[in-house]
Order: sequence, then C-alpha cells, then structure tokens
Amino acid sequence: MTSRGTLNGRTALVTGGSRGIGAVTALRLAQEGADVAVTYVRGKDAAEEVVRAVEALGRRAVALRADSADAEEAAGAVDRAAEALGRLDVLVNNAATGLMGPLEDMSLADVDQLLAVNVRGVFLTSQAAAAVMTSGGRIITVGSCVTQRVPGPGATLYAMSKSAVIGLTKALARELGGRGITANAVHPGPIDTDMNPADGPYAPAQAAMTALGRFGTAAEVASLVAHLAGPEAAYVTGAEFSVDGGHAA
Ligand SMILES: NC(=O)c1ccc[n+]([C@@H]2O[C@H](COP(=O)([O-])OP(=O)(O)OC[C@H]3O[C@@H](n4cnc5c(N)ncnc54)[C@H](OP(=O)(O)O)[C@@H]3O)[C@@H](O)[C@H]2O)c1
Repeated sequence: MTSRGTLNGRTALVTGGSRGIGAVTALRLAQEGADVAVTYVRGKDAAEEVVRAVEALGRRAVALRADSADAEEAAGAVDRAAEALGRLDVLVNNAATGLMGPLEDMSLADVDQLLAVNVRGVFLTSQAAAAVMTSGGRIITVGSCVTQRVPGPGATLYAMSKSAVIGLTKALARELGGRGITANAVHPGPIDTDMNPADGPYAPAQAAMTALGRFGTAAEVASLVAHLAGPEAAYVTGAEFSVDGGHAA
C-alpha cells in the first residue's frame, strides 16, 4: 500500500487494536501518517507488536490496557491517548464482544457484559473524545452487517448492540457538526479474524450470504476507515457505510 500521507500530523485512538480489524486499522492509519494509540484487554503482547509495527513505519504509538466494559477505563483511554500523543484527532470505536447464540441462552450477565462493551463503552469513549477533539476531528464506529440484514437466528443481543451504533453516529453528527467534527459508522460483513474465522463452522454459510461469495479482510475494512479519517471525507457525517461484500444487497 502506498501512503498518500493523508493523516500526516494527526493522532488516532483505535479501541481493541491488538488483533483483527483494530490492529490492521491502526497500522493503516499509521501508514497514512498518523500517530496511534491502541487499547487491549488480554492481548498485551499482541498490542505491543502493533506498537512496534507502527514505530517501524516511523510513527509514534502506545498500547493502553483499557477494558471498554469498565466505564472509567473506557473514557480514560481517551485522555491517556491524548496525553501520550499530544492531542486526539481520530477515534475508531472498534472494540466489541461478539457473543452469538439462541435467545433463550442469553443470561442477564451476558446482556450486561455485551452492552457494557458494545454500547456503553462506545458512548463513553465517544463522549470523552468529543471533549478533547477540535475541528477536523473524526469519530468512526465499527458496527456490523447484521444492522442491515440479520441472516439467521442467534444474533439478537449482538445485532441489538450494533444497531445502537447507528443512532449514536447520527446523533453525534448533529451534536458535533457545528464544531467541525464528523461521526460515521462502518458495517463490516464477514471478516476473517479471531472473532469470525474464515475456516469456522459457519463460514461457508456466511460467505454464501454475500454477493461476492467470500469473506472480507481486515485490510478491506481498514481502508474505508482510513478514508473516513482523512481530509477527503470532510463533508461526510452521520452516514453508514457497508464493507460487506454485498451482504446487505
Ligand atoms: N470479524 C467480523 O466478521 C466482523 C463482522 C462485523 C463486525 N465486526 C466488528 O468489527 C470489530 C472488530 O472485530 P474483530 O473481528 O477484529 O474482533 P477480534 O478479532 O475478536 O478482536 C477484538 C479486539 O477487541 C479487543 N477487545 C475485546 N473486548 C474488549 C474490551 N472489553 N475492551 C477493549 N478491547 C476489547 C480485543 O483485545 P484483546 O485481544 O486484548 O482482548 C481485540 O483487539 C468489532 O466491533 C466487531 O463487532 C466484525
């Protein structure tokens, strides 16, 4: 990938940036010139590997242990990132829990945990980011293709949580537009990661649900996020974008 330097001089925080879409997005933003902070929970070594890869690109990076399920840690990650990097221009709300299963199996603890990460944590991190961002700021939230089309049973809790991202994005766009800050949502289709491996038991059915008949890659999601983070997307806000191989078509 050739860098066009669209994010030179900018800083970004990617939640859940130790693996999968978050890690690849952190690297993609760094390739465009951004200094990057990533959060993680369990993957300290993996997060530090992302830091080293960003540094190898000549950018600054920091890995922060911050559990999005913890209200203080979710909001605090923003201040820690801004302090480490000097400012915060781009927030990518990527961290999420992907619990699937029959409706009757979802316990109250499951509901509370998933909503704490996928909804409350996203809200609190966005709120904290809005407080420190200046004009040109970007809030990009990773939703899911299941907000556009639920292909089968087992997704009630996850789909509900990811649909909250849409309301948040539209409302943030209205709230922050006057300050020159944009908010957008990106809905990945089936993407080959630990959360949804392309060789998993449900993978063939998921691939068949897309128009392209295949899983996507984290890089294909990251490239859309990088576009939305850059100056060419300055007039794009309150919008949803599918990068789903035609899952919603
Ligand atoms: N893969 C797909 O097919 C797909 C499809 C649609 C949407 N998405 C969305 O894309 C995003 C990334 O998914 P992915 O497939 O890359 O997932 P993944 O491979 O499971 O990676 C999840 C990342 O989030 C971090 N994380 C998990 N729980 C966290 C918490 N409580 N606080 C902070 N960080 C946490 C993990 O860090 P640790 O390793 O440190 O735990 C890891 O870096 C999610 O929002 C997901 O819902 C994925």
